[in-house]
Amino acid sequence: MSLTDAVANGSVPAEPLTTADYAAGARARFEPAVWDFLEGGAGGERTLAANLRAFEETRLRPRVLSGLARHDTEVTVLGRTWTLPLGIAPLAYHTLAHPEGEVATARAAGAAGVPFVVSTFAGRTFEDIAAAAAGPLWLQVYCFRDRDTTRRLIERAARAGFEALVLTVDAPRLGRRLRDLRNGFRLPPGIEPANLTGTGYGSPMGHALTAFDPALAWPVIEWLRSVSPLPLLVKGVLGAPDARRALACGVDGIVVSNHGGRQLDGVPATLEVLPEITAEVAGACPVMLDGGVRRGADVLAALALGADAVLLGRPVLHGLAVAGERGVSGVLDIVADELTEAMALTGTASPAAASPELVRPPGHVPVTPPPAVPPPDGGGLRMEDLHASLADPLLDTMNFLNEITQRYPEAISFAPGRPYDGFFDNEAIYPHIRRYLDHLETSGATREQVRAALYQYGPTSGQIRDLIADSLRKDEGMDVPPESIVVTVGAQEAMLLAVRALIAGPRDALLVSSPCYVGITGAARLLDVVPTPVEEAEGGFRCADLAAAIATERSRGRRPRAFYVVPDHSNPTGATMPLHTRRELLDLAEREDILILEDSPYRLVSPGERHPTLKALDRERRVVHLGSFSKTLFPGARVGFAIADQPVRGGGLLAGELAKIKSMVTVNTSSLSQAVVAGMLLSAGGRAAGLAGDAAAHYGASMRVMLRCLRESFSEDLGIRWNEPSGGFFLTLRVPFAADAAALKRSAEEFGVIWTPMSYFYPQGGGTHSIRLSISYLTHDQIAEGTARLARFAKAQMPV
Ligand code: FNR
Repeated sequence: MSLTDAVANGSVPAEPLTTADYAAGARARFEPAVWDFLEGGAGGERTLAANLRAFEETRLRPRVLSGLARHDTEVTVLGRTWTLPLGIAPLAYHTLAHPEGEVATARAAGAAGVPFVVSTFAGRTFEDIAAAAAGPLWLQVYCFRDRDTTRRLIERAARAGFEALVLTVDAPRLGRRLRDLRNGFRLPPGIEPANLTGTGYGSPMGHALTAFDPALAWPVIEWLRSVSPLPLLVKGVLGAPDARRALACGVDGIVVSNHGGRQLDGVPATLEVLPEITAEVAGACPVMLDGGVRRGADVLAALALGADAVLLGRPVLHGLAVAGERGVSGVLDIVADELTEAMALTGTASPAAASPELVRPPGHVPVTPPPAVPPPDGGGLRMEDLHASLADPLLDTMNFLNEITQRYPEAISFAPGRPYDGFFDNEAIYPHIRRYLDHLETSGATREQVRAALYQYGPTSGQIRDLIADSLRKDEGMDVPPESIVVTVGAQEAMLLAVRALIAGPRDALLVSSPCYVGITGAARLLDVVPTPVEEAEGGFRCADLAAAIATERSRGRRPRAFYVVPDHSNPTGATMPLHTRRELLDLAEREDILILEDSPYRLVSPGERHPTLKALDRERRVVHLGSFSKTLFPGARVGFAIADQPVRGGGLLAGELAKIKSMVTVNTSSLSQAVVAGMLLSAGGRAAGLAGDAAAHYGASMRVMLRCLRESFSEDLGIRWNEPSGGFFLTLRVPFAADAAALKRSAEEFGVIWTPMSYFYPQGGGTHSIRLSISYLTHDQIAEGTARLARFAKAQMPV
């Protein structure tokens, strides 16, 4: 039956008044198999029906006599104003519906002032679409196995003027569409993905089964960031946990979508899950919804439940099939008129004014009860119900380094960054406590006060701040008031406090010098903060790279807040920042209005001249210094500190805010440990450097032994290179083979030597051919024997 026949026999209205009229018109026009392809969901199509039903069953609460003469439908999303809280969802092959395809849709979208999300599988080229568009164009991205194809696609769209990327995350493969399978549907000749010709992915249908990356995971967000500065949204989120993860990855927007039911059958309607997602996102980024939107009232219901805008899918194709550009305009006009009417009848002045009370009863959305979860085998908790960081291998890194050393007790381990055991004496601890108590008494404390100082809860900021401030002045020339110090449980706690305080939300960026100590990336991970790596060059950290990373973050609408760095004998590489770079970094921090998190535990246990700390050079209070007594005194004390002398407007110092957080984490650092540290400092005239002198000489000698042994063991040029730190615990070995877990296992089992793959220190990938070697824990004989074993392993592992 032709469209004209259908109109004539009354099954299709001559003048469509609803989007359903357009659907009827399209149905009459299409071959049944094509209609099924466009309409059909996956499997039994329950999801498609659920999307529609969720809107049908949602009632809006009328509000009378609101006195509103105007209803403003404009919204601003990612800095652009749309005339309606509505965009066009990505739909493959508009050319199936009309020969002009996406070009006609772009014209209609532009005329209506709404954005158009163009599918990776568009039937027209990006350039043609862009030439016709007057409104914002976004590119929907499917990630192919061949990342280069994806990158080129994005670059091409960006060149054509596309303004944002929408990564579809619910389609690792195409859904099994029963209707298409039954109809044996094939795309008609000439209907092709116009932007994929010549890529090897140009053959339509069946494409996704082989072409999409089936193992796509969250790091793809970072990869897309590295490929394009355009704002990035994810489409296909259906629950608060994934929304949280997306936010943690720093996405610029979320599209709540179940792919219109085309991927998986029986998942919830998008409107059902919208409230939990908007509650999770809490305004941190725009949230959009698609699936089942057919009327203006549907748009308003979604806005009321927290969406910033909706996307319209199938109705657009219906309009296009019935009358090309005019048909799409017709569909958009109908929804716009209905929306204005719904806003008038509910007394809603603007999209922002739509609140959950609009939906009757307030906030009610028909919810399909979640399916009962069968108890996991043998009971117990399910990993997926715990915080996502717990499934991240990053959090196992520290344990791994300790465990592998225990698993191969015969092996010589260059893995742990532990101090040398030979410095510790079982009996030496007691006099230190006595000395501190005496110090308190001679300073005027009563017996009761001395007793409380040891046995009671202590002040959250710490009770030995004056002694620490004194040692910093003597050892480092850092003149900071005791009030700017918080005594922490190691520098690790200081990192957690600093990240918690400074990173206020997903828009705030924490930059880290990369490769990076896992303590900071791990603390960030616990807090759902995804650090932005600033790759070190061959010669170490460069300010220009930090400046570029800051600019990129800003262009993505993010706010760079802090940069973490280990300037002296860095963990993991061993590199030390030159003096001129320190000054340059401080200037950059001032110019860019960021803070520097300086972590420098190896300074005093390294021999020779030292550059001043960043904090000692800091005139503008740009540096939060993270200190530790683990290397200078002993790690079992777990005593570290933060110096945070930055004033907080309307409050005291940043240190006070860190202390507030600490009060909810560890309450106070062990009084007993503080007493021992204080006693030790007092025994050396208040100087940590005085206590660390022997250690500095020992580790300096160890490093020299290590470097000499490397030169001897690798005299034959195998293409293995290493840096030559003058101190610290670590150095980097670059090798011509993959230094991965399998290589480490072989090294430990067959050659009796353990090391750390450098890749563990790259938050977003890298370091695959580098090894971190730690010299701190070993005797000089062990270093010599370990290096010989390492050389035997490396020769056996060389690529043939
Ligand atoms: C889609 N959808 C889709 N999504 C996507 O990310 N990339 C794509 O290429 C396509 N292609 C596509 C083709 C067809 C024919 C349909 C029906 C759907 C899913 C689409 O963007 C959107 O999520 C739903 O269509 C929204 O539901 P409604 O409005 O169609 O109910």
